[in-house]
Amino acid sequence: MENSVEYIKNKIGDFTPQIGIILGSGLGELADEHCDTAIPYVEIPGFIKSTVKGHKGRLVFSNISGKQVVMMQGRNHFYEGHSLKDITYPVKVMKQLGVKTLILTNAAGAVNESFTPGDLMLITDHINFMGQNPLIGENDDTLGERFPDMTEIYKTKLINLAEDRAKELGIKLQKGVYLANSGPSYETPAEIRMARLIGADAVGMSTVPEAIVANYCGLNVLGISCISNAASSTGGIKLSHEEVIETTTKAKTGFKKLILKIIENL
Ligand code: HPA
Repeated sequence: MENSVEYIKNKIGDFTPQIGIILGSGLGELADEHCDTAIPYVEIPGFIKSTVKGHKGRLVFSNISGKQVVMMQGRNHFYEGHSLKDITYPVKVMKQLGVKTLILTNAAGAVNESFTPGDLMLITDHINFMGQNPLIGENDDTLGERFPDMTEIYKTKLINLAEDRAKELGIKLQKGVYLANSGPSYETPAEIRMARLIGADAVGMSTVPEAIVANYCGLNVLGISCISNAASSTGGIKLSHEEVIETTTKAKTGFKKLILKIIENL
């Protein structure tokens, strides 16, 4: 950890990020447009390299609306074969760099039938269906407690702020529960029916590990899903990664506006 933090600090000087953002599939453009310093993950001690198409793999630092922000342009996923510990390592590094608020974004399939592809959804809570927990193993008491409380990972204050700003911008926002599967296969129709029954509104393959670790080490989390597709239960309609990227690409203008407005008001 010391090596990772020192390596980054040597590159960014006295820049102290207070806000962290993890940019999901198709949403990485924000980091292209706001980039003062970029460090590829491959260079940073302790970081692993991203392998998914459509994901760059670098930490991007930028001053946005007077706020010092660090963005992960591309994230690593459980389905790539990495451990949840490795995937969530950058969250711990962001905490050490000074981050207080972490904005998690992703592309997700709609489980809630009232959602339309292209909608943005504020994550109010999550269901961890990955079958693993990133906190398994010896606990580092300097970072957080062994049995962290999970009653308000996605902070109501941040949800309210995002809703108010979205209203101002005329952006429609959904709210709901995000269920994380391991992937990489998408869900079967039966799995989507189950997800609906147990209270999920959207499904995806990321975010939950990072949210668990962020909450554990005391970061305030805001989660935003870009609903990229109707999850598979609609029947007959096949789902592809290309469709996911295509929809998030269309939705990214509103998404970027909202994120920038939230940063301005944090
Ligand atoms: N399922 C799981 N992950 C996803 C989906 C989906 O339908 N869409 C985007 N990521």
